[in-house]
Amino acid sequence: MGIADKLMAMEYGPAPEDPKEAILWLERHGRRFGHFIQGAWQPPALGQYFDTTDPSNGETLAAVAQGSAADVDAAVEAAGAAFPKWQALTPHARARYLYALARLVQKHSRRLAVLETIDNGKPIRESRDIDIPLVARHFYYHAGWAQLLHQEFPGYAACGVVGQIIPWNFPLLMLAWKIAPALATGNTVVLKPAEFTPLTALAFAEICQEAGLPPGVVNIVTGDGSSGELLVQHAGVAKIAFTGSTEVGRSIRRTTAQGHKRLSLELGGKSPFIVFEDADLDSAVEGLVDGIWLNQGQVCCAGSRLLMQESIAETLTARIRERMSTLRAGPPLDKAIDIGAIVASVQLDRIKRLVDQGIAEGATCWQPKIDFPSRGFYYPPTLLSNVHPTSVVAQEEIFGPVLAAMTFRTPPEAVELANNTAYGLAACVWSESVNLALQVAAQLKAGVVWVNCTNLFDASCGFGGYRESGYGREGGQEGLREYLEPAWFQQAPALRAPAPKPGPSPNRQTESAPPIDRTVKLYIGGKQTRPDSGYSAEVRGRDGRLLGEAPLGNRKDIRNAVEAARQAEAWAKATAHHRAQVLYYVAENLSERSEEIAGRLSGAVGEAQATAEIGLAIERTFSYAAWADKFDGAVHNPPFRNVALAMNEPIGTLGIIAPVDLPLLGLWSLVLPAIALGNTVVAIPSEAYPLIVGDLYQVFDTSDLPGGAVNFVTGSSSELLQVLAEHDGVDGLWCFGNEANSAAAKSYSVGNLKQVWTNEGRAIDWFNLDQGEGRWFLEHATQVKNIWIPYGE
Ligand code: NAI
Repeated sequence: MGIADKLMAMEYGPAPEDPKEAILWLERHGRRFGHFIQGAWQPPALGQYFDTTDPSNGETLAAVAQGSAADVDAAVEAAGAAFPKWQALTPHARARYLYALARLVQKHSRRLAVLETIDNGKPIRESRDIDIPLVARHFYYHAGWAQLLHQEFPGYAACGVVGQIIPWNFPLLMLAWKIAPALATGNTVVLKPAEFTPLTALAFAEICQEAGLPPGVVNIVTGDGSSGELLVQHAGVAKIAFTGSTEVGRSIRRTTAQGHKRLSLELGGKSPFIVFEDADLDSAVEGLVDGIWLNQGQVCCAGSRLLMQESIAETLTARIRERMSTLRAGPPLDKAIDIGAIVASVQLDRIKRLVDQGIAEGATCWQPKIDFPSRGFYYPPTLLSNVHPTSVVAQEEIFGPVLAAMTFRTPPEAVELANNTAYGLAACVWSESVNLALQVAAQLKAGVVWVNCTNLFDASCGFGGYRESGYGREGGQEGLREYLEPAWFQQAPALRAPAPKPGPSPNRQTESAPPIDRTVKLYIGGKQTRPDSGYSAEVRGRDGRLLGEAPLGNRKDIRNAVEAARQAEAWAKATAHHRAQVLYYVAENLSERSEEIAGRLSGAVGEAQATAEIGLAIERTFSYAAWADKFDGAVHNPPFRNVALAMNEPIGTLGIIAPVDLPLLGLWSLVLPAIALGNTVVAIPSEAYPLIVGDLYQVFDTSDLPGGAVNFVTGSSSELLQVLAEHDGVDGLWCFGNEANSAAAKSYSVGNLKQVWTNEGRAIDWFNLDQGEGRWFLEHATQVKNIWIPYGE
């Protein structure tokens, strides 16, 4: 045997990381931890603790406090008390604190990595080389944002006390993703780590003490889901940021629907890993190792669905199996281990159950032969092939080292298969053709797309999902917006109920009113249509005078309108330049008809308001025509040999409930930003004067706006909003009405986790340029997709 062969055949010896420092730290705390509240350790009010164990051997590591209502109260109170001073600090002072946290994370990095590995089961190679360096990077990066806050976000203010609930798969990294932006923007925090992995959050609490962070700015309450629930329900919390399962995300969404808490959700995924026939297959195989076997596949953005072009499927499968056979699995503290332990027995059981179900549904299962330690929770890397796209293992998040493989023939088929999921967190595209890769990336419904790379993360690049993978971004400039609000909006008064209009005159025959001069129709797919119900309602002016009739739209009309909006591809695919041109043309035609529109509108709102509304509506159309080709994303430079293109993509089809009091300007101020950025719209106009749509659709018809880009359904906004909220074809809902409608919009869409944006029942001054137009609207009309592209050979 030659020396090279000997080298290849040599067995690995054990290379364990020494856990001494981490164990000493546990011992120093008597292996028992209270909550971290008001800058100090507090025993749980009810005296209850639970054990956290090492999943690689089942041994107990420490007892940790179970958070009760009294504990959560105390933590929220501490955070609330600390908030005014923390928010009032200069940006520079906050930047110094964040910088100190970054430095201390680096100083304690090895101990933190070991703690993470013994508590979670992930290989030390990962916690040491990926998790902890990224934690430090997040604090450094956000120290920078703290410093620049006032220059970059003028007019914005912190939300207040934020409740943050994190999962067990990247415990300290998820903490950093949540705490760093929250603190940088001046919020204070109550964070609840996952019950399986509380230790690094507690170690971080000590780091906060060491950094001299003012007491109450960061509070850590440990406990299970019930402690999380208490935090979600707490009236003193202004915002909830959650990462975890879609099921719990949905329940949080339900709980928060009735109030005004802001919410960001980072939920599950079933991310496609697409390999085209011209890909560098060896690189793709290495990508898969990081894509599905990183952290034993317990990664929300794991590339768990392998989509292979048919022509290379056999070769690729053979290479994957070969590579799987060389993966080393075993005790995670061993520095040469690729696959460590599964976090807990329930998770192991879940993986086994889903794999069994996949096999029962016809998948072929292949696993390399691996001798696992006799104790602990382990599961081998697994390849399921012949998976049917509707099979449970192709649709459900397994959260384990299990790859479900399928084939496709053409790029459009790959896109269709990739998007055939309720999720939309991440995707990988492997192809040596940059044209093909970017063409496919643009069509994937996912918040992150990695081209010829996988599972790369950086503080500068936003991360978050489409559809049931949640909404909101973490990281990047867009991540900060989750923790900021326009200061004027925080102060905005509650919307007053509109003054009741006089009823119909009892004496209609002799009324000196002009004859009905206006009966509008619904506007669906670019056509004026009659309502399905066959009914209309009278529309009366301020003085009770009959102004006209508007149809009473129903469920069927909304369905038709949504279908038309979804099919309006000509608009969704139009270039930004083209959209701008159409909007300028709309402005021109609106201006042309401004006198007659104002004349009719004045019957409902008086002459002065009508003139003001139409004047500003024309100007606002110019604003959004201007924005249409300027709100165009960013290029990030993460510290790898990559660029990440942060694309502002439209949400898709938006449902819009317009405010009541400004029938033209209110509706217009919402429809314009939506369509300027390529969304299509189904809008419900003001019930006070729905006749305005008749003027607007005539303007559209003469302005080259493609049919279906904007659809109007008149009728009862509270009834129609329910249909829009429940409709799976509506990607986002904007509801600008009273408080009851705001709550209803959120409640009705719990099931499909739709993005909902409301005025929270507050008054918006649509005539005020700072309130009625601009970036705030454009940001809500888009979601950022980060496309990572490597460079270099
Ligand atoms: P989970 O969603 O139950 O737990 C995540 C966090 O939420 C934990 O801190 C937990 O204590 C807390 N929580 C649980 N119920 C809550 C409630 N009603 N209100 C507020 N907070 C609550 O996830 P779990 O049970 O640990 O894992 C179950 C499955 O979820 C996994 O098998 C995996 O498929 C998925 N998962 C997805 C993650 C992701 O990042 N997308 C992370 C963790 C789990």
